[in-house]
Amino acid sequence: MKEFICDNISQSDNGRLCFAGRDTTELAEKYGTPLYLFDEDKIREKCRTYINAVKKAFGDKGIVLYASKAASFKRIVQIAFEEGLNIDVVSPGEINTALKAGVPGDKMWFHGNNKTDWDIDYAMSSGVGCFVVDNAEELYVIDEIAPKHKKTQNVILRITPGIDPHTFEAVATGKVDSKFGTAIVTGQALEITKTALSLKNINLLGFHCHVGSQCFDSQVFFDAVDVMFDFIACVKKETGFEAKIFNIGGGYGVKYVETDAGIDIASNIQKVGEHAKKAAEKVGIKMPVVAFEPGRSIAADAGMTLYTAGTVKRITGYKNYVSVDGGMTDNIRFALYGSEYTVYNAGRMNEECDMMCSVVGRCCESGDIIQENVKMPSSTKRGDIIAVCTTGAYNYSMASNYNRIPRPPVVMLSNGQDYIAVKRETIDDIVRLDI
Ligand SMILES: Cc1ncc(COP(=O)(O)O)c(C=O)c1O
Repeated sequence: MKEFICDNISQSDNGRLCFAGRDTTELAEKYGTPLYLFDEDKIREKCRTYINAVKKAFGDKGIVLYASKAASFKRIVQIAFEEGLNIDVVSPGEINTALKAGVPGDKMWFHGNNKTDWDIDYAMSSGVGCFVVDNAEELYVIDEIAPKHKKTQNVILRITPGIDPHTFEAVATGKVDSKFGTAIVTGQALEITKTALSLKNINLLGFHCHVGSQCFDSQVFFDAVDVMFDFIACVKKETGFEAKIFNIGGGYGVKYVETDAGIDIASNIQKVGEHAKKAAEKVGIKMPVVAFEPGRSIAADAGMTLYTAGTVKRITGYKNYVSVDGGMTDNIRFALYGSEYTVYNAGRMNEECDMMCSVVGRCCESGDIIQENVKMPSSTKRGDIIAVCTTGAYNYSMASNYNRIPRPPVVMLSNGQDYIAVKRETIDDIVRLDI
């Protein structure tokens, strides 16, 4: 029996790739390609894993937020909210999506390293519960705009703990020189805390850090707790303010390829809980409410993308290319960070993979690559369905219209049923805003 990277992937006896128990070639036939598939049951399972683990580790002092940047469309936000998660949003677009999904503003936490005045005003008029403030400038703008909305705005401060998460440079966000947050070692984190405490229209609740993404090493989260609890203790000593909330961010990794380590999230959260209790005692602070903010580990392996193969180019003595009808417009992650993916010829699962190739997109860009060094059956030809696994996070949400290519639809799979969550964009949708 072939082993797959996630338990929602399987293979039928007649050699078809199945996802969430469904024949992917039939889904491609029904909806056309390129096509994003989402396994609703897997999303719910992941949400429950977090909710139960956080409850077990922190009791009532635990919160889980879905980092909707991973995949933001109404249905997925609605599912996460139904499962009891609050929603992390980073833009008016994500706020509006969550509002339209039925999430009240007070269940949203608003992130972003460069919120515009308009963003801040819009978030306040949407009743956003908590701002995760990146820098001092932002604090002053919130303080200025809040009276217009007759409110004292709850905020937590995004602090840069100075930890290297040993992940891709582009998703390592907790290092001192990061564009995100305010650093502890420079003294600016303490300074911004004092500023927050001094402003009339700001209600400081605590602190946030997000060290990085696609992390498998539990030590990273223990280090984040240690550094942040030290900081919380230092703030208490200097100002008398004791943080009520500590948001540890997201970042748990997922298995994209067989060689990825994988991580048991429930037991990891349990360990973080035990570590946090000891750390709080050690530095003499009350245990704050601890918030987890996963994105990737909720959505990634709940997703799969299907394409139709077009040109199969064999450059004699050099290289083979299998071109697909999508590309960097629906999955930019290889172009952005060289991300690895597991790719299959969905209709030829029983055949030997005896051809090494690059799976490439249709865009006018040499870097438009879905994956290098993919092994496919040498019989692969135009019209075959090509499946890319684990595309639920940072694919749809990073999609573009480069080359005026319409974005694929999102089809949800649940309990043997399928339904459209986001319609396919058309070439007319793309010119809709042109004057
Ligand atoms: C502030 C913040 N929270 C949460 C996340 C989600 O991280 P992940 O998708 O790795 O769980 C991110 C990702 O960039 C982030 O920047």
